Amino acid sequence: MRQSGVVIRVPGKVNLGLSVGPLDSDGYHELVTVFQAISLYDDVTVKFGEAGAGITLSASGSTATGVPLDSTNLAYRAADLMVARYQLDSDIDIHLQKEIPVAGGMAGGSADAAGVIVGIDALFELGLSRDELQKIGAELGSDVPFGIAGGTAIGRGRGDQLTPVLAQGSYQWVLALSNSGLSTPSVYGECDRLREGLTISKPTANDALLQALRAGDAKELGRSLSNDLQSAACSLRPALRLVLDVGHDYGALGCIVSGSGPTVAFLVEDEEKALDLTVALSASGVVAGVARASGPTHGARRISSF
Ligand code: C5P
Repeated sequence: MRQSGVVIRVPGKVNLGLSVGPLDSDGYHELVTVFQAISLYDDVTVKFGEAGAGITLSASGSTATGVPLDSTNLAYRAADLMVARYQLDSDIDIHLQKEIPVAGGMAGGSADAAGVIVGIDALFELGLSRDELQKIGAELGSDVPFGIAGGTAIGRGRGDQLTPVLAQGSYQWVLALSNSGLSTPSVYGECDRLREGLTISKPTANDALLQALRAGDAKELGRSLSNDLQSAACSLRPALRLVLDVGHDYGALGCIVSGSGPTVAFLVEDEEKALDLTVALSASGVVAGVARASGPTHGARRISSF
């Protein structure tokens, strides 16, 4: 019997390194970034909808408040693109069970779009390759291909041209969440403003970071974390500096704003350090919430069909 729906689990990400080149004429910046998928997931259910309903979208879960449920949502746009590209003659109902922060620098919206692309491919048995799925993802947003790929990868171009990275080990993260997001374009805009008058060179790979990943050396990885958008995120949200200080004080191996922020990611050595830092952050009054995750983890994948 034909399946009527699928559930796709998609991870959030942290950028372990993010090198940002000058602003190009297309409004984007050339990047070299190292992504790690982490175990904070959204579950995206894609099923056949009621006849005549078109594309419908709903959301629930700890971070669902304020998520748009119309055609401005990247998940909706992903479904729209798939319907047009493959001339799908069906109504599609999407439900997002959200755990990844919204506008948090962890690619939550991109993860949902990745889930919809993989979900529609599975539901309609389109048989697309991972490569084809990622190309479609890149049309929607720079971080969508990585949501499909998962693991650890270098992103070049807009961040959408992926190469897997040789990485050993599993890393423990404590995430400091904010109660309001930061808009990605405004963080890039602030980065340009802060760099005005400077000569900006092409983005580069962080060799120390790649070496740390190859060796599975968490201490070295902590020391090598880098993000060219961090000053811009802190300039727009000065309280982030206080959050970063808590991590330094409580012995995190590394502290970094995730992507365009405002989530701050702390790499920790073990369970005990994670607990210490979680308690300290919760008591500090400078964060809205704390989450725990490990990485790397898988990209978008089906966890059930019905
Ligand atoms: O690709 P995506 O829609 O996620 O990008 C959102 C915004 O982030 C872009 O409109 C642009 O302002 C900024 N961006 C950038 N350079 C990149 C990726 C994103 O300037 N490589």
